[in-house]
Amino acid sequence: MTLVQYKKIIQEALKKYFKEYRSNSSYSSTIWDSMEYTTLLDGKRLRAIMCLETAKSLGVDIQKAIPLAAAVEIMHAYSLIHDDLPCMDNDDLRRGKPTNHKVFGEAIAVLAGDALISFGAQLIIDKLEAPAEIKLEIVNDYLKCAGALGIVAGQVADIEAENKKIDIENLKYIHKYKTGALFKCSMLIATKLAKANNDTLEKIGKYADNFGILFQVYDDIIDCTLTTDEIGKTAGKDAHVNKLTYIKAYGLEEAKNIFYSLKKENYAILAKLGIELNIFNEIYNTLEKRIK
Ligand code: IPE
Ligand code: IPE
Ligand code: MG
Ligand code: MG
Ligand code: MG
Repeated sequence: MTLVQYKKIIQEALKKYFKEYRSNSSYSSTIWDSMEYTTLLDGKRLRAIMCLETAKSLGVDIQKAIPLAAAVEIMHAYSLIHDDLPCMDNDDLRRGKPTNHKVFGEAIAVLAGDALISFGAQLIIDKLEAPAEIKLEIVNDYLKCAGALGIVAGQVADIEAENKKIDIENLKYIHKYKTGALFKCSMLIATKLAKANNDTLEKIGKYADNFGILFQVYDDIIDCTLTTDEIGKTAGKDAHVNKLTYIKAYGLEEAKNIFYSLKKENYAILAKLGIELNIFNEIYNTLEKRIK
């Protein structure tokens, strides 16, 4: 399997689920249009791919993990829609297109984000084939990730850190939660589906924690080194609103060093797990090409 093949599988699954659930809806197609708009726009699908690849590496048939992959991608779309709102990062561009609130208005964008969280959880409950106790644990992890014990905690810290002096512990906290929580959830729910042991859960959890930080460092780097056209979102936003980023705290070169040192740590974890590297290599290559 390649990244391109994975992306295709994920896109098809998302389209299929939207079609089915939309057709059961009794009222207004506007909310479904808005939910689908951001979710189906071209993204890297990294969280879903990491979910599927983790499941596959641990012996689970990819088809069985599809509801989980769709659910994490749906959660990601919620986080993007709300992140872009005028009261948050106030962005006009996402995935190369106008942001959700620019197309549907703020009220519908807020509601679409809300509806996506419950849609993702519903998909896991309805579509995942797993023993009840495992499913319960997975839904619990998923909902925890969406809220004040996950993404929301990081987003609050991110907003509150604007224009404040540099605080490294807070910076780590922001990245760990606003971005890391969903990567961790994506990999851990796949690990739980595979009924892996505690040692594997711990190693994969550490891998995902590192990856979350590494990924947000990457995102902070491209915000200040690439153009709006290249990133599909307004470039230079972080410095403009004085966000607390790894570049602000450490400078560009040291931020890149941190990216590479987390990558190295993660390869050591993969080696211990004895996991095949193809997809993980492809993911790092995709990111590295853009920060060179
Ligand atoms: C953007 O994530 C939001 C962050 C957490 C930095 P991605 O860069 O994965 O966005 P898409 O899905 O490819 O658009
Ligand atoms: C992303 O942080 C965190 C989310 C939960 C979406 P950013 O605010 O840096 O993400 P982009 O740059 O807008 O994609
Ligand atoms: Mg933000
Ligand atoms: Mg943003
Ligand atoms: Mg960013």
